[in-house]
Amino acid sequence: MANLGVEIAGIHFPNPIMPAAGPPVRDGRAMLRCVAGGAGGLVSKTISTHAATPPTPNIAEIPHGLVNTELWSELPPEQWIDREYAMTRGSGLPLIVSLGYSAEDIAWLAPRIRMYADAVELSTHYIGEDAGPMVDAIKAAKAALDVPVFVKLSPLGREMVRAAEQAEAAGADGIVAINSFGPVLAIDPDTRLPLLGGSDGYGWLSGPAIKPLALRCVRDIARAVRIPVIGVGGVSHGIDAVELLMAGASAVQVCTAAILHGPAVFGKIAAELNGWLDDHGIAAVTEIRGLAANGMSAAWAAGKPVVSAGPCNGCDLCAVSCPYDAITVVDKLAVIDLAACARCGLCVTRCRRGAIEWVQASVG
Ligand SMILES: Cc1cc2nc3c(=O)[nH]c(=O)nc-3n(C[C@H](O)[C@H](O)[C@H](O)COP(=O)(O)O)c2cc1C
Repeated sequence: MANLGVEIAGIHFPNPIMPAAGPPVRDGRAMLRCVAGGAGGLVSKTISTHAATPPTPNIAEIPHGLVNTELWSELPPEQWIDREYAMTRGSGLPLIVSLGYSAEDIAWLAPRIRMYADAVELSTHYIGEDAGPMVDAIKAAKAALDVPVFVKLSPLGREMVRAAEQAEAAGADGIVAINSFGPVLAIDPDTRLPLLGGSDGYGWLSGPAIKPLALRCVRDIARAVRIPVIGVGGVSHGIDAVELLMAGASAVQVCTAAILHGPAVFGKIAAELNGWLDDHGIAAVTEIRGLAANGMSAAWAAGKPVVSAGPCNGCDLCAVSCPYDAITVVDKLAVIDLAACARCGLCVTRCRRGAIEWVQASVG
């Protein structure tokens, strides 16, 4: 059994898989279900100085993810302070309390949640792309609290690195990346209406569709700052967690997969992560952090696709989708015409049987 424990800003998490702020942690009872489901830490649903009143409907499943326009907690902050946070005491897991949004909001909330929080996570979702309000919110949190202050960033193109650097400079103890991506639009052609309510029907995309965006953001941020990064976006399986950790994350949060599959998904992902580490002879999860921080070597980039006869069953998938018509199936075996092949690499990932491998060019 690999050691799944991680330490972030001085806080010990028995495993690095935890819920992200959202419906799976919408109140104290839901958080206890995450504990029972095998989470290695807790994050509570974002609260602000008043309860949210989101439009309805506000969550819809689309291929490869969800769109939502759920806002922050629909419970008043007083209920969280009087009741919900206290329910997680005795769970043995650290609690990261998610707060939003402005410096004034944080200054009001922070002293009131202090006794329950092992750390706080500041959502920057509704305060825009200007770093000023984020910096002010961090300063308000740091002034009111003596626990680590993490900042959760929404995906903002290349500007995320700058935002993370500014958060670090303002005293943040960690970055959480990424929030859902948007605004986006999903339409029901039968009703000719958006799937989500609200004045424009726009929402925010989450789930497997945003994993490549999360990977890119986490890697960019982890390379730019010295504080730890918690990765979030599109994690459903242990292998997704492996990828985010290799991109530079110290731990991983999960929202969409927990909505779709229930809180047991945390233990499932942690067990799959453990299995992957064991299969690769890796003793501790901390050993894989940042392993995928670099681009390809020249020798790897100069490689080519090679078919293995064993696993290839001549299914034709690679041949049909080869953009250069470089593959034909002969006697139930894919054959690559290297004169026509542009080495785009698509066939390697398109093959469902692992029968086509990218083979690195020999050096020297
Ligand atoms: C229905 C829903 C509600 C969410 N609510 C919050 C929230 O209150 N605060 C927050 O910081 N992020 C919120 N998020 C964003 C998630 O925490 C997470 O960053 C994002 O969904 C990407 O992770 P995933 O692909 O695992 O869902 C919400 C996401 C969904 C789908």
